[in-house]
Amino acid sequence: MTDKTNSLQHLAIIMDGNGRWAKKRGLPRSAGHKKGAETVKDIVRAAGDMGIKYLTLYAFSTENWQRDPEEVKGLMGLLREYLKSELKEIQENGVRIMFIGERQMLDADIAEQMSKIEKDTADNDKMTLCIALSYGSRQEIVAAVQKIALLAKKGDISTNDIDIKMFSDMLYTKDIPDPDLLIRTSGEQRISNYLLWQIAYSELFFTPTLWPDFSKEELAGIVDNFNRRERRYGKN
Ligand code: FPP
Repeated sequence: MTDKTNSLQHLAIIMDGNGRWAKKRGLPRSAGHKKGAETVKDIVRAAGDMGIKYLTLYAFSTENWQRDPEEVKGLMGLLREYLKSELKEIQENGVRIMFIGERQMLDADIAEQMSKIEKDTADNDKMTLCIALSYGSRQEIVAAVQKIALLAKKGDISTNDIDIKMFSDMLYTKDIPDPDLLIRTSGEQRISNYLLWQIAYSELFFTPTLWPDFSKEELAGIVDNFNRRERRYGKN
């Protein structure tokens, strides 16, 4: 056997299908999100066990604010609970937790709790769990352009200083490597404003499984598939 295993350092996931999972069972959408939050727990643990160093999960997009207010309220409630209970356990297991997205949109108590968790877990190094919350990639890119324009206006940089590295450093994800693999559950084959800049060379995997049904066994199979892919980055 040839040893051609790719290095899966960073896994990004679009957790989709909670609503359909609930609908199929005649349950309210909130039940799907609740079950989805349990899957999050299993997958974070499994990713850590597999030696994955960075896991980025799309928990709530900028566009999700337009959902029914009741659903948004329910998701925020779930998040509040998660921040209190589950993340505590996760952080005790040596996981560093960070958040990307527009925090000013979130309730003050949630934003405060997020900053506290980030501070408390900053020195953990088993794995980094990055939660995209109120996140939109185009918004992130525009914010980066604004920062760069301001630096240029102040005369701190010249146009020649603007390159890929500098641009990457202006994004929320500046401290983490680009994803090697992006998985989307639920059968939809689109990116939905997620990490557009960062996935330039990521491998993509779409599975029909609805997020609440996603398992560590399926994850292991997808990682196996990833390991057999040839990544060329545009070279021959
Ligand atoms: C997509 O399913 C899922 C979301 C918009 C939210 C994801 C949230 C969780 C998995 C639970 C909370 C997570 C944390 C970290 C506490 P959908 O509602 O779009 O499903 P549908 O496309 O079938 O309607």
